Amino acid sequence: MLKDKTIIVGVSGSIAAYKACEVVSRLKNLGAEVWVVMTDEATKLIAPLTFRALSGNPVITDLFAEELTKLPMPHVFLTKKASLMVITPGTANIIGKIAGGIADDPLTTMILASTAKKLIAPAMNCEMWRNPIIVENVEKLKGLKFEFSGPEKGKLACGDEDIGRMSEPEEIVEKVVELIGIRQDLKGKRILVTAGGTKEAIDPVRYISNRSSGKMGYAIAQAARERGASVTLISANGHCPAPHNVKRVKVESAQEMLEAVLRHYSEADAVVMAAAVGDYTPKLKTQNSKLKTKELTIQFGQTEDILKIIGKQKGRSQKVLIGFALETENMIANAKKKLVEKKLDLIVANDDSTFNSDSIKFSTIDRKGEVKDYPQQAKAQAAQVILDNIACMLR
Ligand SMILES: Cc1cc2nc3c(=O)[nH]c(=O)nc-3n(C[C@H](O)[C@H](O)[C@H](O)COP(=O)(O)O)c2cc1C
Repeated sequence: MLKDKTIIVGVSGSIAAYKACEVVSRLKNLGAEVWVVMTDEATKLIAPLTFRALSGNPVITDLFAEELTKLPMPHVFLTKKASLMVITPGTANIIGKIAGGIADDPLTTMILASTAKKLIAPAMNCEMWRNPIIVENVEKLKGLKFEFSGPEKGKLACGDEDIGRMSEPEEIVEKVVELIGIRQDLKGKRILVTAGGTKEAIDPVRYISNRSSGKMGYAIAQAARERGASVTLISANGHCPAPHNVKRVKVESAQEMLEAVLRHYSEADAVVMAAAVGDYTPKLKTQNSKLKTKELTIQFGQTEDILKIIGKQKGRSQKVLIGFALETENMIANAKKKLVEKKLDLIVANDDSTFNSDSIKFSTIDRKGEVKDYPQQAKAQAAQVILDNIACMLR
């Protein structure tokens, strides 16, 4: 759930510092890269070596330490890389320093240098927590979009039974996942995705195709896998590396794509037809050798309409069927027509600026005819929008 995420864990000088060990090890278990930053006071309560062993990275207690000289400007290098900083435990002192914009140690310096999301798990005596200065500091930080986990009511180190106890590690990690983790809302679902532009052979060395790069379909396949689905990708663009743990079936022509889709269709809970299937195929006898004629006139016939065929098969089944419409004019009107004709649940309409680009500007149209417009965004992000729709329809 936290694969490819870098998280900085700030540990300050509270007796609850030992609980940060479990936070670090849980974050590691979820796949995150973890760097621990400790205040001086925290190092008196727990040894940095413990965090080094748990995180697998040097522990930052001094920005000028010899060990960090390999990282240029560690406070900037690491904070740029991080998706989130979690301060666990957060003392009254560290909360006050953050609210006051102080940067006199590695942790507060990195907090100021970071634009990542920030989560604080306060831990302190109940009177400290109720102190109007702390109340004001916490309110100020909440207004600056700092997230908080706890503190909870319970047995405190001083013996009181009151507010001030740090949240339990599992709760803190749950909050981290909520803030930056990859949802597993497609776990147990099977998704069939098509990608790329099909190729129709003219002779053994020539073909007719289109400008589709397959990037959108690949982004959907990868994101669906990361959200827990088991994914089959039918790809007409074999040169892109297959996304991790995605079953890829390589095809060339529209006919091969149709056969592959029909082979995998029945087992799928959702089908996303992101491929640009060629509409025309040359009406030529199969050529075994390269054509050498001086002039060549080729007549084209239509390929099979894959979406229409599977739209018909869908019938009353619960399967979700999503298509794409690439239009150069009357985009929404044409896409709406396609949605109805092919019995789709959702259509993604886009124009020809999408070809070979890493980003896409698009609109979605659902069965009720509701149109939603999305600004230019990375295809990876657009994939999440499409998968949100699938997750919602499969619920
Ligand atoms: C054993 C011990 C436990 C402490 N626990 C807390 C605590 O839970 N919360 C807190 O705000 N301060 C606590 N303090 C006081 C802080 O360590 C002190 O305010 C220190 O200046 C905080 O420094 P730091 O925020 O840079 O880590 C504790 C001190 C000691 C000696």
